[in-house]
This record gives sequence, structure tokens and C-alpha cells, in this order.
Amino acid sequence: MAQTTTKNQPPIMNKASTVVIRPARNVSGSLRLPGDKSISHRYAMLAGIAEGKTRLENFSTGADCASTLACLKALGVDWTRNGNAVEIDGRGSKLHAPVVPLDCGNSGSTMRMLSGILAGQDFSSELIGDESLSRRPMARIITPLALMGARISSADGNRPPLQITGGPLKAIDYDMPVASAQVKSALLFAGLFAKGETRVEEPVTTRDHGEMALRAFRAMVNQRGKEARIEGGQKLRAIEAQIPGDISSASFLLCAAALFPGSQLVINDLLMNPTRSHLLDLLISMGAGITVTQLQEQHGELRGTLQVEGRSLSGAVISGVDSAALIDEIPVLAAIAPHTSRGIEIRDAQELRVKESDRIAGLATNLRAMGAEVEERADGLTIPGRQELRGGEVESFGDHRIAMAFAVAALRAEGETRIHQADAAIISYPEFFEVLENLVQR
Ligand code: S3P
Repeated sequence: MAQTTTKNQPPIMNKASTVVIRPARNVSGSLRLPGDKSISHRYAMLAGIAEGKTRLENFSTGADCASTLACLKALGVDWTRNGNAVEIDGRGSKLHAPVVPLDCGNSGSTMRMLSGILAGQDFSSELIGDESLSRRPMARIITPLALMGARISSADGNRPPLQITGGPLKAIDYDMPVASAQVKSALLFAGLFAKGETRVEEPVTTRDHGEMALRAFRAMVNQRGKEARIEGGQKLRAIEAQIPGDISSASFLLCAAALFPGSQLVINDLLMNPTRSHLLDLLISMGAGITVTQLQEQHGELRGTLQVEGRSLSGAVISGVDSAALIDEIPVLAAIAPHTSRGIEIRDAQELRVKESDRIAGLATNLRAMGAEVEERADGLTIPGRQELRGGEVESFGDHRIAMAFAVAALRAEGETRIHQADAAIISYPEFFEVLENLVQR
């Protein structure tokens, strides 16, 4: 098997942060990835309100998790970072009133989940974000946190900035109208500061890292089906953890390898939480060769070694609960759809319109720019298979997952593809373009 070497030229990223991707023969090698973004956010936040010093190895290298750490510092939480290890001095349940607005950058996870903690603090704070985050819906946390007794507002009742005045909370029994793991975690975190038992029920099962992280920090969370309950007043205790590799970041490399018969890719120590690994089942159903070995568990989170063998891919229909489970992987699946034999149809994925960019519109625009036929609908896309893509000019629209998705599509296009604003990848996977280039065999 080919090893990860530096035989290829490093990707050229010019001042305007345009990356040029050339066609590949296959994608092979072995690697491990920086820690999972969803887990890094949650462990950092809970470490801030735990008692004792938490040590997190393989913390996410993305800018989003750096936003969480910066907000924690502004809230009086001391931490140090040495490479990818972060040590966080917990403050116990009481944070410090910030003297500046809390800048969440591009990170919806930071804004939504931190709001749950701030709702229980006896001070006022303001949460701000960049242009993209300032367009994203927050009513989904404003409504339930207000029901718990927090004073939380924004100019239009929905978009950031948010002003939060926290205080003693009361437990609620809440049926979430939107499937969102960020909202579920925010409410469970707020539940720690509430009198009584908070109960949240989600419309479809979403990732359960919040529940698992709370347990890791020694809180009791009861889970049954789509319902989670937490008793207020529980104290958290610091942990030591090695965060498994980010499976959503890995999805770009996985799909890249799966596209080419002849690829052999091994990813060590990758997150294998069943609420996050639907992509593996989907790729298997499409014909990819995928094996998982060396399964291990820490703090409830499964990790393992993943081996991917490229084969020709058939196609898929993604709808209903699968769309929620694959929400971060749909961009790359849509981008590779023209290279499959039957194409990919995506339904019930309207949430994609309110992510870091309108991902449905961005995917359709870029696929068309590369010569593909696409049908765009309010809740998804249909992309026929067996389409030849030609290299072209595409945009990231400032969205990390769009930038990375089109790097993958471009590997099987004819000619070179230029991805503009490709530096958006720093949000979740700053190393992506270099890593991809090292795995590509030409
Ligand atoms: C996340 C949940 C999802 C996902 C995001 C991370 C999380 O968002 O798209 O990248 O860590 O809980 P929603 O909760 O908005 O669905």
C-alpha cells in the first residue's frame, strides 16, 4: 500500500485563497485525523464548568473549536494549549461575567451550546458571530431557554447577536420541533442549572455526544429512545480524554478513496459513534469496500481503524431520518454523485439551507459550473449518475464543507478545477488540502 508521502506538490493557495485540484488516479495511504469537532466543543465547554483540571489530547484543530476556547477564556476559564493537547482549569459551575461580547466566529455549535450554559449564569452576556453565523436561526434555542427562565433576545427574535441574562432556571419538558443535536445539547447543559428534571425529546435521533459527554464528566443522563432527561444541580468532574478523529472531516477522504477502484485508504483512531457513522453504511450499500477493526471505547465514544477500498459506486436515495443522520456528509455525497452509476437523490434536507451557507444552492451552482445536470428543490437535490465533470471555477461560498466537497469531485473531473475561498476549510479541517494532496496518486 502506498504510504502518505510528500511526493506531490503542496496545493497552491494564493492570496485570494484559490486552490487548484488536478485529476487523480486513486487515493491511498494511511493517516489519523485531528479530534472530532462535535466532541471537542462539548468536552471544552463542560470542562469549563467542571471541578478540576481536564486534559484533552487530539483536540480539534479547526477554527470553530478555537472560537469555543476563546469564549471560555473571556468567561474566566484558564486553559493552555500545547500542540493538540488542551488543559482546561474548570471553574466549577460559576463562570465569570465577560467584559467583551463573546465572539463565536463561524461556529453555530459554539453559539447554541454555550447559550445553554450562559442561561444558567447570574450575569448578562452578548454572543456575536461572523457574517454567516449572523444569518443563522437561533429561535430554536431562544424559545426553550426562555421557557426555562433565561432572558434571551436578539434584534429580530431569531438571528444573532444574542443577549442573554441568565439566572436560576426551571426544568422544562420540551418536544424539539427541529432535529438538532446542538439544541438538544444546549438544553441538557442548561438542565444542569435548573431546578428539577429537564426532559427533551427530539423528532428524530441525532448525534448523542452531549449525553455521552455529560456522563463522562459524571452527570447522570437518562436516555430512552428519542428522549433524554437530566436532573439539575449535578456537579461535573474533570476528565482526561483522547479525542477520536473527526469522522465528518474523514468523510471527504473516504469518499475520495471510494471513487477510484484501486484506492486503499486506512484511517486510524477514527470516531465510530453509531449516530455519526451512517456514511459507512451508505458507502457499503453503494458498493465501496469498507472494514472496521480495532474497535475501542473511551467515555462512551467508540473509535476504530477504518479501511476503504475504492470500487465503482452505484447510487442512493437519502431521505427522512437518513438525511438528519448524514447532514454534514451530504455536501460530499452530492459532489461525488455525478461519478456514481445511478446518481444520488437527497430529500428532507431543508436544514442544509441554514448551515454555514445555503448548501443546497451552493452544491447546485458548483455542480453546474462543472458541467453537471442537477435538479434543485426546496429540501434537496437530484443529481443523475454517469455524468462527466469538467474542471472549472467553483466557490466555497465561505463554507468549509463546500470547499472540501468540490476538491473531492474535482479529483475525477477532466482538467483542473479552481476552488475559490478554499481557506474556509480552516473552520473544521485546516490540514485538509495538504493531506489530500499527499494521499492522491497520479
Ligand atoms: C452538530 C450538529 C449538527 C451539525 C453540526 C454539528 C453538533 O448541527 O450539522 O456540524 O455538534 O451537534 P445541527 O444541530 O444544527 O443539526
